[in-house]
Amino acid sequence: MTNFKRKYRAYKSLIDSRLARCVTKNDPASLYKPLKYILSGGGKRIRPLLILLSCEAVGGKARDALHAAVAIEIVHNFTLVHDDIMDHAASRRGRPTVHTQWDENVAILVGDELVALAYRELLKTKSPAIARVAEIFTEGVVEVCEGQAYDKEFETQKNVSLNDYLLMIGKKTGKLVAVASEIGAVVGGGTAAEIRALQSYGELVGRAFQVQDDLLDVVADEKEFGKTIGGDIVEGKKTLLMIEAFRRSRGADKKLLRSIIVNRGTSAARVDDVREIYRRYGIIEEARQLIARDTENANRHLHVLRSSDARAMLYGFSDMLLKRNY
Ligand code: IPE
Ligand code: IPE
Ligand code: MG
Ligand code: MG
Ligand code: MG
Repeated sequence: MTNFKRKYRAYKSLIDSRLARCVTKNDPASLYKPLKYILSGGGKRIRPLLILLSCEAVGGKARDALHAAVAIEIVHNFTLVHDDIMDHAASRRGRPTVHTQWDENVAILVGDELVALAYRELLKTKSPAIARVAEIFTEGVVEVCEGQAYDKEFETQKNVSLNDYLLMIGKKTGKLVAVASEIGAVVGGGTAAEIRALQSYGELVGRAFQVQDDLLDVVADEKEFGKTIGGDIVEGKKTLLMIEAFRRSRGADKKLLRSIIVNRGTSAARVDDVREIYRRYGIIEEARQLIARDTENANRHLHVLRSSDARAMLYGFSDMLLKRNY
């Protein structure tokens, strides 16, 4: 096993056990059963990992950032529970989503409580910079909501540009990843230049991560991915793939894509056709190139940091996101 994998597993099980300890109550069961279900249901824990590594990369102790790490994972889980309602998604992490296992009211309330639990955990952070940390965290949640609003607005808009898409994913996904690296650096006592570098790193790997997620929605193995393949196509999401395919396609291909965009929610059977169009027009390759380019640019920001084991781990982190081999 590589050094990276060993440390990733150790940090992941640390986060998992801290998450389990966050919720001690069982009543009301209609709240705490689904809440424990979502928090214990797996997940890669990449955002808390990034907080811990960023803290160490500027010379801090990972344990000082542990509460913030747990907090960001909890808030991430809040976004997932509500996102699954908004996206009509039936499965996540290989299991039924909260609103399908219970119902939408349960899922809304679980999300609400998760936000409160996240702040309860975050505010346990012992750092002279706690006010700044809370502000970064809060602005992150605000931007995720904005990104999610754009994501939904774009479903019914015809002319969404690649730039609109990049702005949207920067908010709904890139921002929380950037918040993770920034908070880690702040708690670790990094210099202004180190904090800036880590924040830019997070923004870029976060963006690459969402493009990758959009790509996997089309090409992944459903079991491994843990989510229904083709969900974005069925929902009429304006992903990079859909935007670029629509722009480049001609004739019957364009007609098919247009009908999918117009008749959202009814085109489950067309996923294979769309995947074939993406392949034929080189869209899959284009997405892969963007992911590789963003990751490379992200890594450039790490040059600002001192050479250390933690920095090496961050290069490993980029690589893990790129290959999704964890
Ligand atoms: C899923 O995030 C939502 C996106 C931003 C793509 P993750 O892929 O980090 O989900 P888990 O927590 O590992 O399940
Ligand atoms: C993820 O976007 C954004 C947030 C959850 C904030 P997606 O809707 O693509 O995420 P998945 O694919 O459902 O995990
Ligand atoms: Mg979504
Ligand atoms: Mg979704
Ligand atoms: Mg997705």
